[in-house]
Amino acid sequence: MGLFMKIDIISVVPDLLQSPFAHSIMKRAKDKGLLEVNIYNLRDYTTYARAQVDDYQFGGGAGMVMMIEPLVNAIESLQQNTTYDDVIFLTPDGNTFDQPMANQLSLKNNLLLICGHYKGIDQRVRDHFITKEISIGDYVLSGGELAAAVMVDAIGRLIPGVLNNETSALTDSFQDNLLSPPVYTRPEELRGWKVPDILLSGNHAKIEAWREEQSLQRTKERRPDLLDDKH
Ligand code: ADE
Repeated sequence: MGLFMKIDIISVVPDLLQSPFAHSIMKRAKDKGLLEVNIYNLRDYTTYARAQVDDYQFGGGAGMVMMIEPLVNAIESLQQNTTYDDVIFLTPDGNTFDQPMANQLSLKNNLLLICGHYKGIDQRVRDHFITKEISIGDYVLSGGELAAAVMVDAIGRLIPGVLNNETSALTDSFQDNLLSPPVYTRPEELRGWKVPDILLSGNHAKIEAWREEQSLQRTKERRPDLLDDKH
């Protein structure tokens, strides 16, 4: 376990993944040398004509399936340089991604993410290479790229040193199964809408108590499913 993390991503639409990691906190993580994200184009690993990577499914039916050989070539070629902690397939029938999963994955050193397209990937790739299958929610995207971007963002910001104030990730919504309290900044008043007095009081103990109270209230109203016996 180190402070440095490498995430390799295999995609048939690598352009989709250029922008999400080029800005803001993900850019800072890269610039600080804490996170490296490499995008690999699956079409560079096919031996079929016209860079073919998908084909009709056996047994018939609508929708193309991503072929086994280009994926195996790509995965094995990348595995020559890197021992991955996990080879993750993004798919709507995977385990639903959540904050505890992001926390766990942020402790890994090397991850390989496979983005699916079309009807999916040949089941043999899933059987023999994939160690985790992850969905970002109960809806179907046109490909795994946006899901991969969501995961890398959620994981990347948890790598120690990526956020300026390291405690700030610990006070995020979900980290203690509570939603975050409301926040305010200048001005103290606009159009008669005032910032709660307590936040201007300078009494840190009272402010902390107010925030906890607000968190609990918000969670009860919006996400009672998150509350357990502890709260
Ligand atoms: N690919 C298509 N839909 C997806 C989802 N909901 N999560 C992860 N990968 C996907």
